[in-house]
Amino acid sequence: MLAIDTIKNGNDLNLQLESTLQELPLWSVYVEVAHPAKDLNILFEQQPLLPGIILTCNQEYVGMISRQRFFEHMSRPYSFALFAKRPTENLLKFLDLEVCIISEDTSIVEAIQLALQRPSQLAYEPILVKTKLGNYKLLDFHQLLLAYSQIQVLTLAQLEQVEEQSRIAKAGFRNLKNNYTRLLQNDKMAALGQLVAGIAHEINNPVSFIAGNLVHALNYSQDLLDLVSLYQKYYPEPAAEIQDAIADIELEFLRDDFLDLLKSMKVGTERIHEIVLALRNFSRLDESEKKTVDIHEGIDSTLLLLQSRLENQQTGQLITVVKEYEKLPLVECYPGLLNQAFMNILANAIDAIFNNYDYSILPSSEPKSPLIQIRTESIDDNHIIIRIADNGLGIPKDMQKRLFDPFFTTKSIGKGTGLSLSISYQIVVDKHGGQLQCLSVVGKGTEFIITIPIHLDS
Ligand SMILES: Nc1ncnc2c1ncn2[C@@H]1O[C@H](COP(=O)(O)OP(=O)(O)OP(=O)(O)O)[C@@H](O)[C@H]1O
Ligand SMILES: [Mg+2]
Repeated sequence: MLAIDTIKNGNDLNLQLESTLQELPLWSVYVEVAHPAKDLNILFEQQPLLPGIILTCNQEYVGMISRQRFFEHMSRPYSFALFAKRPTENLLKFLDLEVCIISEDTSIVEAIQLALQRPSQLAYEPILVKTKLGNYKLLDFHQLLLAYSQIQVLTLAQLEQVEEQSRIAKAGFRNLKNNYTRLLQNDKMAALGQLVAGIAHEINNPVSFIAGNLVHALNYSQDLLDLVSLYQKYYPEPAAEIQDAIADIELEFLRDDFLDLLKSMKVGTERIHEIVLALRNFSRLDESEKKTVDIHEGIDSTLLLLQSRLENQQTGQLITVVKEYEKLPLVECYPGLLNQAFMNILANAIDAIFNNYDYSILPSSEPKSPLIQIRTESIDDNHIIIRIADNGLGIPKDMQKRLFDPFFTTKSIGKGTGLSLSISYQIVVDKHGGQLQCLSVVGKGTEFIITIPIHLDS
């Protein structure tokens, strides 16, 4: 008549999201309906946690009486006297209870939904679990709730895990994008560096040739002009044809101008020579490894390359560059890369001054003479600072945090890549273990502060 399974403590269950009713503590307490109802009373008193009793007739399931329904009914006047000694069948027929039957392979999540669909007066009744072999067992509704709450905790934990994984994946993607950008830019810079170095080399030969010969040209012309003077001194009255030729070529003017002209050609070639030097300095292909260099030289050669951009082609407006260089120690760095960062930041300063950036809200700012200030200082024994400030249009607060994002640009479509600052950031921060900060006030200007250690961490 009676069989009781060992009941596991619901809290010790090792549940998964897809756990089924089989994994929960189930009661197998059966009573034949021919037995008197008082037997049920005895069983309920012996097993205080027993949620209900399965009733059978010749070992076939016929119904179920829960602890709550049993005592509720038996506590009514006369009920006990009326039913206690009679076969339980009478009580079952009288109560005519609806039972919620769920198959044992139903998931706990599904089962709780089915159980909660019951009418409210039956909401806390135990659930009859049907096994694959066609047997029945009882599940305390409280146990089902408990299991469900455990699964919910599990779901939340897994959700957090998924969120964490997606965060890691996103960060990975960002890294990948950054690396790709860097690789692309490195490739571009290497190619550009090669090109620049090649051109510099090609220009250098003929320019050295001109510069070398100009010295002699100057001397020879001076000699020839002296000789002409000598002739004029000793032959003040030359033939008419010579006098005509002197008048035609305006000898006096030629004498003054010719030497000036040659001198300015010399200055010109010296300038080309400087630019070639700057180009070589900038590309520094042969110096892609670290070197100990004078940072000021790098800034100066970068400035020289940007010289032509300091004048606005349309308005003729000219940017003044003020340099305040402190004495700096030599810095161990990747000079080619650092020059690239200086170049990017200086080019932006020029763009900002000449209004090449398009911000939708632009405060009307006082007209001011365009200025770029470059200041350097060493802050301690191990670090130097380079400040590059412009008095351009400034950067709105909400955009300041996006400056170093790859592809962030406020230039009109097709004009800017939005890569320069992110590359500069990588060069200063990743490559040199330094810092790159930006201070800006809209309408007043912007300052980029580069802090780098004077020794590179290997
Ligand atoms: N000195 C500055 N003043 C004002 N805005 C600046 C300054 N420097 C950078 N910015 C802002 O940061 C953005 C990103 O700069 P970045 O150099 O990366 O790209 P870009 O200048 O737009 O394009 P590219 O450098 O390819 O020409 C610019 O579009 C601009 O909005
Ligand atoms: Mg730029």
